[in-house]
Amino acid sequence: MSDTKPPVPIKKLHQDLLGWYDRHARTLPWRVSPNDRKQGVVPDPYRVWLSEIMLQQTVVKAAAPYFDKFTQKWPTVTDLAAASLEDVMAAWAGLGYYSRARNLHACAVTIADDWQGQFPDNEKDLLGLPGIGPYTAAAISTIAFNRPANVVDGNVERVMARLHNSDAPIPSAKKQLAALAAPLVHRERPGDYAQALMDLGATICTPRKPACSLCPWTDHCAGRKAGSAADLPMREKKKPKPVRTGTAYWVRDGQGKILLVRRPEKGLLAKMMGLPTMGWETATSDGSADPVALGLPKGGWRALDGEVRHVFTHFELRLQIKALRLKTKGDSALGHWIIEDDLADAGLPSVMRKVARLALSEGG
Ligand code: ADE
Repeated sequence: MSDTKPPVPIKKLHQDLLGWYDRHARTLPWRVSPNDRKQGVVPDPYRVWLSEIMLQQTVVKAAAPYFDKFTQKWPTVTDLAAASLEDVMAAWAGLGYYSRARNLHACAVTIADDWQGQFPDNEKDLLGLPGIGPYTAAAISTIAFNRPANVVDGNVERVMARLHNSDAPIPSAKKQLAALAAPLVHRERPGDYAQALMDLGATICTPRKPACSLCPWTDHCAGRKAGSAADLPMREKKKPKPVRTGTAYWVRDGQGKILLVRRPEKGLLAKMMGLPTMGWETATSDGSADPVALGLPKGGWRALDGEVRHVFTHFELRLQIKALRLKTKGDSALGHWIIEDDLADAGLPSVMRKVARLALSEGG
């Protein structure tokens, strides 16, 4: 294992990174540019928090349109707190990891009710809020309030592993990599420093083919000197995810309307809208499905070609689709019957959008 001492003086690392950030900081909708910060502009903690929640598990390009939608609909945290959970879930649909949306709403309500609509500025109080873990607490206190904290995400782990030429494999070496990052935290410009490291990891020190010739730390990087930068960080072998199978039902009524149901309060995709499905709900489900159990007819189904595959955190799902066309108007006791044009705005999570896309392409 490598020394936690950086390979060159910290002052030099700071100068080179912040000089680069002053010239090349990405323009992002939640960010106050380094120039504006120097002029005294301060970030809006609501926007910083919202962006950090969205950016957990999601890349900037995918999160940015959602960020714009949310801030237009709900410009302040109290606006978001006043929204219904259903509206927030529907606006989140497609971003994935839906517990984030439930916690987002719960956190907004807590800020509105218990904190007079103002986010706390320190890691300890932030950690007490729904959906805020150590990474997010550090990121918000640093970026929004310019308080020094060790903000370590996957980008920063990669940069540290390379800078120190550490071959300790992740995920077990996460603590070690965080220890490498800690002494480098900037005391005067912590917010800019944290975002500079994120930008470096996202644009230069990328997972594959890092652009070392453009890197402000190229002369300091032990991984580059050793020729190993592109291979770091090392990773422990991932176990393959278990596969679950199930059936999705694509039902149209006599008017061509499509049946959607709201999923149960608990479990996967809780409370989200979706097509009726069966067979995959728990690790012990065996894939078997009986439409009658969902209140749907026994016969008349057409099995569509192809299957939908979707990767969740703990398993991969494969759904086959069965289609049925009813002769009569849909029974509202079964769920919501919506016209095809309204599918895009129905708040469907990605896996359900995939089902709809396949069913439509198969003439369902
Ligand atoms: N990834 C996570 N947080 C980020 C931020 N504030 N800016 C850019 N990328 C990020």
